[in-house]
Amino acid sequence: VSGLDTPTFNKFRDLVYEKSGISLGPQKAALVSARIGKRMRTLGMDDYNVYLNFVSGDKTGEELVQLLDAISTNVTSFFRESGHFDFLAEALKKWRAEGQSRYRLWCAAASSGEEPYSLAMTMTEALGSGCDIKILATDISTKVLGLCQKGVYAPDKVKTVPPQWRDRYFEREGARQAPQYVVRPNLRRLLLFKRLNLSKPPFPMKGPLDVVFCRNVMIYFDNEVRSRLLSEIYRLLKPGGYLMVGHAESLTGMVSKFKSVQPSVYVK
Ligand SMILES: C[S@@+](CC[C@H](N)C(=O)[O-])C[C@H]1O[C@@H](n2cnc3c(N)ncnc32)[C@H](O)[C@@H]1O
Repeated sequence: VSGLDTPTFNKFRDLVYEKSGISLGPQKAALVSARIGKRMRTLGMDDYNVYLNFVSGDKTGEELVQLLDAISTNVTSFFRESGHFDFLAEALKKWRAEGQSRYRLWCAAASSGEEPYSLAMTMTEALGSGCDIKILATDISTKVLGLCQKGVYAPDKVKTVPPQWRDRYFEREGARQAPQYVVRPNLRRLLLFKRLNLSKPPFPMKGPLDVVFCRNVMIYFDNEVRSRLLSEIYRLLKPGGYLMVGHAESLTGMVSKFKSVQPSVYVK
């Protein structure tokens, strides 16, 4: 596979923006060229335009997911930016003390599941028994959603889960030399998995939601897509509900009705 020329890069850029809201600036050309080239080699293709026609013409949308997975990153981890989970636990305890027993959370870019399962553990621990808890886990990528659903993690992935929680919420399976940690049904049953494209509101959920985690995905969007997304999250949250964004994604300079609580935590 040879290099990607500018006109062809621009066609990929337009397709990706139209389908996912992800903005690829010219500085991404080399990276995109390499990542798409890798995907093309897997398919046995050596012409970017042939591949472009293939993705554009794929009615199932599966190749588009492959393309988006190739150019975006799915990096995540259990209890990433852990301050958000401490903040959440305190908010939940307060709402519980006020008598609330029904909780609806949305994990908007769930990737391979580490974030929604961290939410599920935090909620179970903070709320105890007797509550009606549902966490909606969405992503644009059917590939990572499949991993979410499977809920099987290698030992190095569960390192950031407190050991007593790991034993409570994961089953250790497989050979002693190569164990796998499988999410137990008591945790998994709190989650609902759906494919959802954040760049295409309105979304079909019925609010009101208590908390939305929308972390480390807005970095890929331009301000137009971000603003639309933020208004939709605002609409779906209950008054007093929280939005968590990634630590590198302040809403400063964005037109939005959210009030800042602390860096990367917002309230409706
Ligand atoms: C870097 S991961 C962040 C995962 C997790 N929220 C975290 O902070 O650890 C970004 C995720 O956003 C997803 N994504 C990218 N564009 C999207 C879109 N338009 N709609 C929904 N999800 C999208 C990707 O598939 C990927 O799984």
